[in-house]
Amino acid sequence: MLANKHIAIIGSGTMGRTIASGLLKSGRVKPKQIRATARTKASAEKVAAELSVTCTTANAEAAAGADLVILCVKPKDIAKAVESLGRGGRRPLVLSIAAGISTGFLESLFGDDTAVLRAMPNTPCLIGKGMTVLAKGSHATDAHIALATEIFAPLGRVLELEEKHMDTVTGLSASGPAFVYIIIEALADGGVMRGLPRSVATTLVAQMTLGAAEMVLTTGRHPAALKDDVTTPAGCTIAGILALEDGRIRSVLARGVETAARVAGELGK
Ligand SMILES: NC(=O)c1ccc[n+]([C@@H]2O[C@H](COP(=O)([O-])OP(=O)(O)OC[C@H]3O[C@@H](n4cnc5c(N)ncnc54)[C@H](OP(=O)(O)O)[C@@H]3O)[C@@H](O)[C@H]2O)c1
Repeated sequence: MLANKHIAIIGSGTMGRTIASGLLKSGRVKPKQIRATARTKASAEKVAAELSVTCTTANAEAAAGADLVILCVKPKDIAKAVESLGRGGRRPLVLSIAAGISTGFLESLFGDDTAVLRAMPNTPCLIGKGMTVLAKGSHATDAHIALATEIFAPLGRVLELEEKHMDTVTGLSASGPAFVYIIIEALADGGVMRGLPRSVATTLVAQMTLGAAEMVLTTGRHPAALKDDVTTPAGCTIAGILALEDGRIRSVLARGVETAARVAGELGK
C-alpha cells in the first residue's frame, strides 16, 4: 500500500527521524517518497545528510501533493505547523503523533471531512522494539488504519484502540521507557552497592528486564503467576519483594502512569 505514496514528515526530531528511518529500513518506502521538514535549517540539513531524504524548512512544499502527512512536532507547535502547510490540491491522510492533540482538533484545523489518525509510538521504535497505538478520527477508515499499521509495524508492535484511551497510552507506553530506565538504574545501584562494577550490574539488569518482558509476552501468563515462580517460600526473592512493598512500589508506579496520562491530556489545551 505504501508503494508510490508520497509521505510528508513535518518535524524531524527524535520521533520524526525514527519513523523516517524505520520506513526506509523496511524497504517499503524509497528515499524519494519522503519529504521531511524541521523548524531550523541546521536540523533540516543534518536530517537530510543522515537519512538521505529531502529535508527542508518548507512545510507547504513538503506537503504539496503528499498522500500522507505525518505530524511529528511538539503539541505546542501543532497549530502553527498545520497553518504553514497551506491548502489546495487533494486532501492527504493526516497522521499525528503529538501527545494530547485530539483528532477533533486536527479535523477543525484541516477541515472537518479530513481523514485523521492519531498514533502514539515510543522511543524503542528506533531499534524495532517499539509499541505504537493507533486511533481513528471520525473520517478515518479501516483502510487508513491498515496503511498506518504498514508504517509502524517495522518499528515494533502495533495496536488499534479507541481515541478515548490515547492519553492513558501516552502515560503508559510512550512515557514508560523513561520509567523503566529509572527502574533499571535503581536495580543496578543495588548491584553496585553489593560490589558489582556499574557496567556489569547494568548489563545484568537490562538483560533480566528483557527476559522478564518476553516471558510476559510469550507465555501470556499473568505477571503475578510468573512472580510466584521466582519466589521460594522463606527465600531471598520474597524477602526482596517485601522490602519493595514497604516502599509502596506498586502504587508509586501506577500513580506515575496515572499522572503522566493526566498531564498528556492537558498538553493539547
Ligand atoms: N519523544 C518521545 O518519546 C515521544 C513518544 C511518542 C510521541 N511523541 C510525540 O512526538 C512529537 C515529537 O516529539 P520529539 O520527541 O520527536 O520532539 P523533538 O525531538 O523536539 O522534535 C521536534 C521536531 O519538530 C521540528 N519543528 C518544530 N516546529 C516546527 C514547524 N513549525 N515546522 C516543522 N518542523 C518543526 C523541530 O525542528 P528543529 O529541530 O529545527 O527545532 C524538530 O525537528 C511530540 O508531539 C510528542 O508528543 C514523542
